[in-house]
Amino acid sequence: MKLPRQFYQPLAIGAPAPWRELPVKLERMIHFVPPHLDKLRAKVPDLLRQVDVVLGNLEDAIPADAKQAARRGFIEMAKVSDFGTTGLWTRINALNSPWALDDVIEIVGAVGGKLDVVMLPKVDGPWDVHYLDQLLAQLEARHAVKKPILIHAILETAQGVNNVEAIAAASPRMHGISLGPADLAASRAMKTTRVGGGHPDYAVLADANGESARKKFQQDLWHYTIAKMVDACAAAGIKPFYGPFGDFSDPAACEAQFRNAFLMGCAGAWSLHPSQIDIAKRVFSPDPAEVAFARKVLAAMPDGAGAVMIDGKMQDDATWKQAKVVVDLARLVAAKDPDAAARYRL
Ligand code: GLV
Ligand code: MG
Repeated sequence: MKLPRQFYQPLAIGAPAPWRELPVKLERMIHFVPPHLDKLRAKVPDLLRQVDVVLGNLEDAIPADAKQAARRGFIEMAKVSDFGTTGLWTRINALNSPWALDDVIEIVGAVGGKLDVVMLPKVDGPWDVHYLDQLLAQLEARHAVKKPILIHAILETAQGVNNVEAIAAASPRMHGISLGPADLAASRAMKTTRVGGGHPDYAVLADANGESARKKFQQDLWHYTIAKMVDACAAAGIKPFYGPFGDFSDPAACEAQFRNAFLMGCAGAWSLHPSQIDIAKRVFSPDPAEVAFARKVLAAMPDGAGAVMIDGKMQDDATWKQAKVVVDLARLVAAKDPDAAARYRL
């Protein structure tokens, strides 16, 4: 085990010191762009005004013969735009692939100063994070990158789920973890061909009571994994995310799945289609009525201690902390979005 004093040491001479606290950022949606497609890359300047994070995807969904074009396209899109407060991320290829090493070397060399986060797929354990951590430090030092590049792991193997606590705590470079329901389903031999979301056959039946039609209640296939991921991330002080929702023709199901994740503690989700941007924006911004109530709680207990009744509901030190989570998020949303600020009266 790395000793506490060494945990925050840069891993290469000349690399920037790791963050002790993660930068506070609004990351309601991580919007995926396939950077080998000129037409979609051309939309990035517009996207920057709509999304919290733009991610250039180099991994799955990019054909093998387009891997290098995607890497070049990502470098190009990183160079030409001013990202302002919008995050710039890339999802590199898996560490056991022929492309991962050059993804990291070429991208940090070309645009390391602009890159916020590297998303690392198929993380099985902390050893995967340690490898990338060391490599990033060497490249940051070589290219005089001033701001540490963060790592975001995808939780998408059964082994990764077993090791999720160690992954979350593997390095001060860890930004967060996303659920990868497609790869994870395959890794576990789950019998679903869907990318995220529920399944009509994963259900419990109401008791038989003589009527022929028994009520059936669909359950959430991902509840256990999301709960485990949220606890691992929260305990390590990093951010959990829902990943992709693949059925673009079912926005209601996407919204329901995102909302469950939001209520459970997730900070955002991936948007793979433009229609999912607004869904994520709506879901991962707190409800104005909830914000108004939370502000009442904070106002009634300015020092965060004691007990009061508000609208018939008991409030105390713990509910003050719950209210603060909601109001802090509302302030972050309001700082970015004047319409939301008006809705929250902030
Ligand atoms: C995402 O990468 C997934 O496998 O769901
Ligand atoms: Mg995957």
